[in-house]
Amino acid sequence: MALFDKNKTTLRVDERLTHIAFILDGNGRWAKKRGLPREFGHTEGAKTFKRIVRYCGDIGIKVVTVYAFSTENWSRPKNEVDRIISLLGEYIKGAEDELEENKIRYTFLGDKSVFTPEMAERMRRLEEISAHYELRLNIALNYGSRAEIVRAAAELAASGEPITEETLSSHLYTAGCPDPDLIVRTANERRLSNFLLWQAAYSELYFTPTLWPDMQPSDVDEAVADFYARERRYGGVVGK
Ligand code: IPE
Ligand code: IPE
Ligand code: MG
Repeated sequence: MALFDKNKTTLRVDERLTHIAFILDGNGRWAKKRGLPREFGHTEGAKTFKRIVRYCGDIGIKVVTVYAFSTENWSRPKNEVDRIISLLGEYIKGAEDELEENKIRYTFLGDKSVFTPEMAERMRRLEEISAHYELRLNIALNYGSRAEIVRAAAELAASGEPITEETLSSHLYTAGCPDPDLIVRTANERRLSNFLLWQAAYSELYFTPTLWPDMQPSDVDEAVADFYARERRYGGVVGK
């Protein structure tokens, strides 16, 4: 049962739902449906991104992770890639300007070194100056989960630390973050597409046909209500 206030209007999550991750999908289809170039879908998707992150904070989510650009997405046409990267660049600039208003702690998951030195530096700076805020937003950008695990394994081997689940986790980009309780994917695709493969071991998965640019707070409410109707067993036996 999801938690609503006494007027049954405002949703509040509790400690059972700390971390929600989104695989945002369907920007291209949203544009195509309107006879527009795919880039328009990404522009609209960027607005949705802000709206949904804000709403997650409002309902008490502590960590939001968003899959914004995968290592595989570089294979798209150059003009589309350029548009997405430029939107992300604008978002990062805006995030710095609005830091005090939004009070978000930003972390980028992925290899920053492929971006221009200016953009990589902005990303690092944003992480640094926002580090004291509570609401965490992880933005997976040039992210691939297998590459993340390989990188963590190599770092761990080089460090000489014992190899355990905890030490390996501590070398992932998500170090220090709880695993996602709920992963939401939009646009009717039912796969993880190389996203958080390690961290998703016991995540609940929720798929919606809604295209990402159309995603509304009410869609988040539906995903949250669905999550609260589930029983997480972690391989054990509950309710016996
Ligand atoms: C998600 O929308 C955005 C990214 C993957 C960067 P898509 O661009 O994948 O949209 P569809 O799947 O083509 O509709
Ligand atoms: C996954 O979406 C990547 C992101 C959301 C950034 P894609 O649209 O790239 O995934 P596939 O190709 O349908 O698996
Ligand atoms: Mg897609």
